[in-house]
Amino acid sequence: MSNTVVIGSQWGDEGKAKVVDFLTLDADVVVRFQGGANAGHTVVIDGQSFVFHLIPSGIMHKDKVCAIGNGVVLDPSQLLAEIGELEKRGVAVTADNLKIADNAQVVLPFHKVADRLREEAAGKRAIGTTGRGIGPCYSDKVNRLGVRVSALLDESELRERLQVLADSRNPEFVKLYGAEPLETEPIVREYVEYGRRLAPYVCDVAEYLYEQRKAGKRLVFEGAQGTILDVDHGTYPFVTSSNTVAGSAACGSGIGPTAIDRVVGVVKAYTTRVGNGPFPTELDGAEGDRLRELGNEFGATTGRKRRCGWFDAPVVRRAAIVNGLTHLAMTKVDVLDTFDTIKICTGYMIDGRLHRTIPNQLSLVERAEPVYEEMPGWKKSTCRCKTWEDLPEELRAYLNRLSELVEVPMGWISVGPGREQTIVLAK
Ligand code: GDP
Ligand code: IMO
Ligand code: MG
Repeated sequence: MSNTVVIGSQWGDEGKAKVVDFLTLDADVVVRFQGGANAGHTVVIDGQSFVFHLIPSGIMHKDKVCAIGNGVVLDPSQLLAEIGELEKRGVAVTADNLKIADNAQVVLPFHKVADRLREEAAGKRAIGTTGRGIGPCYSDKVNRLGVRVSALLDESELRERLQVLADSRNPEFVKLYGAEPLETEPIVREYVEYGRRLAPYVCDVAEYLYEQRKAGKRLVFEGAQGTILDVDHGTYPFVTSSNTVAGSAACGSGIGPTAIDRVVGVVKAYTTRVGNGPFPTELDGAEGDRLRELGNEFGATTGRKRRCGWFDAPVVRRAAIVNGLTHLAMTKVDVLDTFDTIKICTGYMIDGRLHRTIPNQLSLVERAEPVYEEMPGWKKSTCRCKTWEDLPEELRAYLNRLSELVEVPMGWISVGPGREQTIVLAK
């Protein structure tokens, strides 16, 4: 199997980066294809933790290449900060190991201001975004008002594109929100400088990936966010502004769908969500706090508390359906090591009808009553388990039950944040 797409199967933060880092051991190129610096991807190597927002999680592997595809919304200042941070920690980021698509969209100050103003004005209806300008940047892209990375390399094009954007955004800031307009000239100067620094990395990523595939190289596509935050398949409008599903790997990096051999859905052994929107299995009280503490469930981008709850099979079934999952990569099973009993939501009762897959209609999800079954906990530490046989019997039963409910085989099991704390079942 050569090319693998890794996506989140819940509401993000499933441990995608850990899985990507592990799969990169057998790959050559790691590609981000959607999202932006709203992502917070954590990799732990030899006890050292690295958090990436834009740089693909394969960067810690020497002699492997990371690529940022056209589907990403790229914040140059954030990317340069990440490059600088890695270099301080002894990891070189050069034109040889980082490629940036010339047709990716650029996140600009207009987008961050618009994100903040809209959230502030929304009050109770706020989405709880990460404030990274993601939604406004994608909407300007689709409106054909955006600025691509290639424009950062050409001052007159940048000035012209920024003027078009300013003519659209500034009246909104002033008239709708009573805020100050943004001047374009300081932005031109700042972003031309970013362009100068990023120029060595910029290329035609689609063509690069084509050449790599011809040479027999293996690609890993790193999803950001999660399926239920997908702009089409998630709990709209409480979603992000991109397609987070596996199909997005093709259009967000410029490969054809025929290049994808397997689709790995990363799944946390329970459920978390950051930001607003319905969450049927959310635990408000002490059990939720216990999951948050044991799982250290605080956002890697914003530091916000993650909302926690039991495993929700209807959510992961939606992910199995819309991504065509070939495998599950189950993470954070060790977090459940001390629980006496563990609940699984097998379906939702909504208006007297049983749903096995999370509905698309928000009001139905808001009324969903989770149907639970209980399984005994294993009450043993699992963080040193190396094989399926090492895992306690109750945990194996739990994993088999989850796999049965979502109808996808288990490919990997993660028993801790470290690269070595991974059990491989996939052939
Ligand atoms: P991502 O956004 O999907 O890449 O996930 P995040 O990095 O935001 O959050 C996952 C968190 O869980 C990180 O702090 C990881 O280091 C950690 N993690 C990943 N896998 C495991 C695991 O199996 N067990 C434990 N205890 N932590 C894990
Ligand atoms: P990773 O890749 C968890 C959530 C935000 C908010 C909604 C929209 O680390 O899994 P946005 O800023 O994208 O417009 O916010 O999406 N969100 C995430 N939640 N993990 C993420 O990324 C997320 N990226 C965005 O909290 O609810
Ligand atoms: Mg995250």
